[in-house]
Amino acid sequence: MIIAVDGPAASGKGTIARALARHYQLPHLDTGMLYRAVGLSVARAGGDPDNEADALAACGFDDALLTDPELRSEAIGALASRVSIHAAVRNALVKRQRDFAGQTGGAVLDGRDIGTVIAPDADVKLFVTASPEMRAQRRMRELQDHGLAADLDALVADIRARDARDTNRAVAPLKQAQGAVLLDTSDLSIEAAVRQAILLVDAQVEGQRTN
Ligand code: CDP
Repeated sequence: MIIAVDGPAASGKGTIARALARHYQLPHLDTGMLYRAVGLSVARAGGDPDNEADALAACGFDDALLTDPELRSEAIGALASRVSIHAAVRNALVKRQRDFAGQTGGAVLDGRDIGTVIAPDADVKLFVTASPEMRAQRRMRELQDHGLAADLDALVADIRARDARDTNRAVAPLKQAQGAVLLDTSDLSIEAAVRQAILLVDAQVEGQRTN
């Protein structure tokens, strides 16, 4: 079974995707980490994230970078959002993601374009969202938990800027995929959001079985 989880920054999609992977015993890929690794790699090489050639050159990053704690910082999230608008970057990362999705037994992937581009035939698609204010508060707690500095107003501004860039880009923009079920986590605790996600997955699977 392939489960595609998409949604904007700090909507809860990562937590939900990890919990679904545990529940259904499937491997999980946080595809945002790939774009973050490109962002970090271009920064360390002294390249320009808005330049397609520089960003593409950074796609051959060393896999060890995927465990670098700096990947989780807001600065690198913003760089990821900038490198991810380039078609060449997205193309360079497609195979890795499709191979992961296509492994025997299936997988859970979360990102922005899993249900639309990477795995349009996924068995289950969720689109996870929440209000920008709620997402900024969550991101602040998450950063603090990782010992990173955070400022709420700056986070709200960053989330709005990232939403605009992710939604309005020409290639693989963030949008609810056809057949995706919407899950608004604004008023839900993590536990409630995960419970709801499992119910939605089970309902989609059941619906396909009886159709
Ligand atoms: O954790 P958060 O939602 O803040 O970000 P992320 O999922 O780590 O993704 C960082 C950035 O990478 C996003 O703002 C997107 O611009 C980009 N991204 C993308 O374009 N496509 C994906 N499948 C995943 C991330």
